[in-house]
Amino acid sequence: MRGVGIAAGGASTAAGLRSGDAAAGAMEIIPAEVAPVILMVNGQKRALKIEPRVTLLRALRNSLDLTGTKQICDRGSCGGCTVLVDGERVNSCMTLALDVVGKKIETVEGVAQGDELHPVQKAFCEFDALQCGFCTPGFVVASKSICDRAKATGVVPTREQIKQELSGNICRCGTYNRVFDAIEKVVGQKA
Ligand code: FES
Ligand code: FES
Repeated sequence: MRGVGIAAGGASTAAGLRSGDAAAGAMEIIPAEVAPVILMVNGQKRALKIEPRVTLLRALRNSLDLTGTKQICDRGSCGGCTVLVDGERVNSCMTLALDVVGKKIETVEGVAQGDELHPVQKAFCEFDALQCGFCTPGFVVASKSICDRAKATGVVPTREQIKQELSGNICRCGTYNRVFDAIEKVVGQKA
């Protein structure tokens, strides 16, 4: 049903089924309204047409084919869909795409520079900070934001602060300690 609305009778609109319409007779399925937007993703302008209700997560995955950002809970409780918007972490499943027009969006696809992995990604490899890997894109993006802030401010987070920062990211395989080790390596707490 993606991309369609339902209306009834002859005087249909894209708003869906209106009260009283059901009694009017035959149902028809009509296209929902779409808005042309440009999103700035990983340093590139990306044009797409989306319904106003579409989340950033679905715009990334379904319209832009950026499937590194994972749809897991789709309700803001796992962090698997974490992206950066103007440098701040957001759950893209809880963010409307229209609300981030004009902002800088960074997904896991934009973390590495070409073939050169970001230090966070290298540390994840070094510390084997994943098992099935399904949560990993969200952890990598969230970890990068922690490390970026440490670098920008010169304030090195403690392990407890790192845990607190990542409390919105869930790993069902239980790789938390290795993720914390990886971040500590990048921010300079660990040799
Ligand atoms: S998929 Fe967005 S928080 Fe879980
Ligand atoms: S590595 Fe499997 S859910 Fe985190």
